[in-house]
Amino acid sequence: LILAFLGGTGPEGTGLATRLAMAGHEIAIGSRSAERADEAAAAVREASGSAGVRGYVNEEAASAADIVINTVPHTAQPDLLPGLASAIGSKILISTVVPMLFEKGVGASAVRVPEGSAAEQAQSLLPEARVVGAFQNLSASNLGDTSHQMDADVLVTGDDAEAKAEVSQLVEQINGLRAIDAGRLANTQYVEHITVLCVAINRRYKVHSEIKIAGLDGLHA
Ligand SMILES: NC(=O)c1ccc[n+]([C@@H]2O[C@H](COP(=O)([O-])OP(=O)(O)OC[C@H]3O[C@@H](n4cnc5c(N)ncnc54)[C@H](OP(=O)(O)O)[C@@H]3O)[C@@H](O)[C@H]2O)c1
Repeated sequence: LILAFLGGTGPEGTGLATRLAMAGHEIAIGSRSAERADEAAAAVREASGSAGVRGYVNEEAASAADIVINTVPHTAQPDLLPGLASAIGSKILISTVVPMLFEKGVGASAVRVPEGSAAEQAQSLLPEARVVGAFQNLSASNLGDTSHQMDADVLVTGDDAEAKAEVSQLVEQINGLRAIDAGRLANTQYVEHITVLCVAINRRYKVHSEIKIAGLDGLHA
């Protein structure tokens, strides 16, 4: 598959792109700047050992892709996504976005999104797209460190069962990750909020925490 990352030049985009390139996918790193995209693509080629990683501006990346992965900050998506409607069409759009605010001395807190979650906001901005929430609870730092063995669950939410199954397959192509169907897209707010807790735990224990759901033993190979 060709996977495009909107704002793929940040730690989340490059980290996830590295793991998915290692799983054998072609990667289109998107950016507002072709130059920054090329630089990030070179870094992902180097980290993943895969030659199939190229940089593009966001719209070209989205047009070239089979699946689009949104890795821009939540504040960026209301301006960015509507202009990509024809490039994205009815493709799967994976939302990794966490609406979160950092305040010095206070830490992280969730930002309320009128639509419920960043993923639902993306769906309302792109009504044709098949939006699926995934990857929000993984640490970009762990993803980008190829010497780190991933060992976490990924909660997958969405209203299109086929799209959710396709994204779950993608998740499990990354060594050490298990996909869990976490229900409809409206559940994404709970998933996004878990990341706020992970950030609080990270500050307290100086770690890169992620999550695993208990009680599912035997349901997955
Ligand atoms: N970092 C993590 O550990 C982590 C974990 C889970 C989920 N996430 C989610 O993943 C997303 C990306 O996180 P990140 O840490 O990689 O973020 P980031 O570095 O702040 O931003 C990623 C990229 O988004 C683009 N961007 C920034 N502002 C923009 C704007 N106004 N319009 C269009 N594009 C803009 C930039 O790319 P260009 O300048 O190249 O266009 C930037 O490199 C966030 O929504 C975050 O909540 C992050």
